[in-house]
Amino acid sequence: MNIVVIGTGYVGLVSGLGYAKLGHRVACVDVDVAKIAALDLGEVPFYEPGLRDLLREMQEQGRIVFTTDLYSVADGAEIFLIAVGTPPTAFGEVDLRAVFHVADDIGKCLDHEAIVAIKSTVPVGTNRKVLDCVREKMIAIGRENVSRCIQVASVPEFLSEGKALEDFFAPHRIVIGAENYTTHDVMGRLHAGLPGTRICTTLENAELIKYAANAFLATKISFINEMACIAERVGADIQTVAHAIGLDPRIGPSFLKAGIGYGGSCFPKDVSALHQLAGLNGYDFKLLGAVIEVNNHQRDWFLRKIENRLGSVRGRKIAAWGLAFKGGTDDIRESAALDIIQRLCARGAEISVYDPFAMTRAHGLLSDDIVFAPTAMDAAEGADALVVLTDWQEFRDVSFSTLRERMVNPLIFDGRNLLADMHLSGLGFQYEGVGTSG
Ligand code: UDX
Repeated sequence: MNIVVIGTGYVGLVSGLGYAKLGHRVACVDVDVAKIAALDLGEVPFYEPGLRDLLREMQEQGRIVFTTDLYSVADGAEIFLIAVGTPPTAFGEVDLRAVFHVADDIGKCLDHEAIVAIKSTVPVGTNRKVLDCVREKMIAIGRENVSRCIQVASVPEFLSEGKALEDFFAPHRIVIGAENYTTHDVMGRLHAGLPGTRICTTLENAELIKYAANAFLATKISFINEMACIAERVGADIQTVAHAIGLDPRIGPSFLKAGIGYGGSCFPKDVSALHQLAGLNGYDFKLLGAVIEVNNHQRDWFLRKIENRLGSVRGRKIAAWGLAFKGGTDDIRESAALDIIQRLCARGAEISVYDPFAMTRAHGLLSDDIVFAPTAMDAAEGADALVVLTDWQEFRDVSFSTLRERMVNPLIFDGRNLLADMHLSGLGFQYEGVGTSG
């Protein structure tokens, strides 16, 4: 099939390359000239394991092209896949301007039967509005007849950063929302060759499934984070508790890692959007309100832990390991790590930070007073305390006896319980995890 993917962020680029690998001919479009130029040269503008190799493989086989000009690739395209960003506005609503801008452009250049499919996470009802927008544009330029042949599909993406390709090629389910059998069938053929249960359903169901999935996972995280607070108070260990409850298949082991809370480009935005969607429809989704509140509280709680132990952090040298919102990515959007570093800095701490992949992205965003160290060990040199903020495997691999010598005060606050099983107190460290004594 001939498909056009609009938007080359995590979702768009991974999907475009994934569909190319499945045997389709793909054109990726983005307004960002520099990004398209880099992709054209085989360079991926963000860190995602395996993506660069797949990009080069698909380019060599001539299965993918990159352009800023939608018109140049619209001819003969069967599916236009919208994968542009839907960031939150200052009021926590979903900013759909990019989606409708693209819908406008598609309407202007579309002169043949095609499906407009939306992968961006959008509030319920958006797919229908996008279809209306495309059709209106077509009618305005005299293509009323063809406009009736345009269909819309909702194909939410469930990939997570750091293992995006793995998730694309081994999905748990493929959700296809559409209004008729033919569209379900075409979208089904687009995904031929992929495992995973097919859910062919309505547009509204598909839109809501995506929000429900993210909101449920975020709820698990906030639940375990509150349990961690209780565990600390009663002298229990949250990791043992999480492991034990996770063995029950009705609960499951994933998303039960206690820590400084969830971040990233999806959970914070999608949980808030669903909360708002409920409100706009006259329903107060109390549980989600609490999920958001607990998530914000985790950061305050972690900061209080540090201050309780150190007294004031003013003038204290604190090493921070991690900037990304989780290990395996250089993405710092809504990163709890970044927020905690900024707040420590605002309270007068002298911060030295290290992250294996996210330093370049964080540079312009953090205060000039913050030192970016070349290694994790360098960041900890002379530190009064070390805070672990992102779960990078690399942090487990340092020599802790050397670390002990380099730090002035062998105090570790582990916001991810990454080092909890390493028996660091035996090496002379004072270790504080989240809901665990390590
Ligand atoms: C998420 C969803 O997993 C994915 O299906 C969707 O398509 C996009 O949003 P992603 O944002 O890449 O993916 O990250 P994810 O691995 O889900 O983690 C989200 C946040 O939750 C991270 O900050 C992570 O550190 C945190 N988290 C995750 C926990 O605090 N505890 C856990 O047990 C799991």
